[in-house]
Amino acid sequence: METKTAIKPTIDIVSPIPGPKSQEMLARRAAALPKGAAMSTQVVVDSARGAVVKDVDGNTLLDFAGGIGMINVGHSPTNVVNAVKKQLDKFIHTCQIVTTFEAPIQLAEMLNELTPGDFPKKTLLCNSGSEAVENAVNIAKYYTQRPGLVVFEGAYHGRTHLTLSLTSKYALFKKGFGSMASDIHRLHAPNMYRVPDGMSAQKYLDFCIQRLDEALISHIDPTSIAAILIEPILGEGGFVPVPKPFLQKLRELCDQHGIVLIFDEIQCGMGRTGKLFACQHHGIAPDMITIAKSMGAGMPIAAVTGRAEIMDTIHPGGVGGTYSGSPIACAAAIEAVKTLSSPEFQRKTEQMGEQMRKIMETWRKYPLVGDVRGVGAMRLVEFVKDKKSKEPDPDLTLEIIKHAVANGILLIRAGLYSNCIRLLPPLVITKNQLKEGMEVLENAIRVAHEKRGLI
Ligand SMILES: Cc1ncc(COP(=O)(O)O)c(C=O)c1O
Repeated sequence: METKTAIKPTIDIVSPIPGPKSQEMLARRAAALPKGAAMSTQVVVDSARGAVVKDVDGNTLLDFAGGIGMINVGHSPTNVVNAVKKQLDKFIHTCQIVTTFEAPIQLAEMLNELTPGDFPKKTLLCNSGSEAVENAVNIAKYYTQRPGLVVFEGAYHGRTHLTLSLTSKYALFKKGFGSMASDIHRLHAPNMYRVPDGMSAQKYLDFCIQRLDEALISHIDPTSIAAILIEPILGEGGFVPVPKPFLQKLRELCDQHGIVLIFDEIQCGMGRTGKLFACQHHGIAPDMITIAKSMGAGMPIAAVTGRAEIMDTIHPGGVGGTYSGSPIACAAAIEAVKTLSSPEFQRKTEQMGEQMRKIMETWRKYPLVGDVRGVGAMRLVEFVKDKKSKEPDPDLTLEIIKHAVANGILLIRAGLYSNCIRLLPPLVITKNQLKEGMEVLENAIRVAHEKRGLI
């Protein structure tokens, strides 16, 4: 008779989380770092490889937060580590404003080629996602000589003054920071989970599209708008895929009124959805795209890639910075982008997304699971107090995260109402590790329901 060998689990919890060494480090963190820089778990990392994270107390966990989508290629992949080491042995940085070196040129050439849009492109490299968005918007303003910007409810674009102004979700991100930048118009983006009662999905989508036209008549002068900025799949806002007809309408409005269309793919891009960029699922190309997070495999690097004529509009010296185009970060990014753009890697991501989708669809049976959604391997579960009212339940969400983390997976919340758990495991996670981690999360969901006598 054939005997099946049991697969050895990856997760190994040998002490409470946080254990004694972690607690010591957390106390130092609390004393040394400002409390505004919050954390979603109390895991203190000792080392990480692939999808596996080991903490300083000897616990082994699976990473389902992926550094909020920064670790699509996995922790410390060999090709990235070797490329960084090679560059470190040559030189660390001489500054692009002073000298020229190959790494940023090679990376820009790759991004110009790989980003959607069949037109000449150029790439500006910078150090963070926020900086990329800020640059994109500033370049669009310079190019059009217009002051206005259109952004959307639920958007997250960063934490600098301008990008915070572009960001939605007031209480968590903007409250207390005083006045925001001017000439920013925020419109509603369709959320197909929250279709108003009594309206069909199609009617709601048509209505959202119609509201765009009306906004350009009732309160926005289209000839004052430099750019429309949108995440094709809202990240922080709760993995809300923006429907194709809505994106198409934005493309049309931009073409009609000479507005620059910017897609912020900092969270949804870089292979996460099974294509290198999320907008490639719809065949809609923006004029500019912002890229960060997984492009650097954990190194701080970001990019704005856009139509050459727009990118070239700025006078020499008008953009750039000391660290932009850091050869170390570029070396990492070149390797990461090679991996993420490979068709084989994308096929595997698609399969992984399908595995996640199938498992998560079964979670709809739980009374407090309002929705499961996503594209490719960018997946999320939304918790509500009641399936009909869809009232968000952020406390339950936190409780489930705590339980799952204690049992060995790293997680982070998302959503305008902080009532969602987003799953962004490294795309190199094995099928068994994925299954194992999903079981830990489902168990946490089940326990929370049992506690409330709901199952
Ligand atoms: C869509 C999007 N835009 C911009 C940013 C800001 O990037 P960073 O944190 O690198 O400044 C983020 C970060 O989460 C993001 O998800």
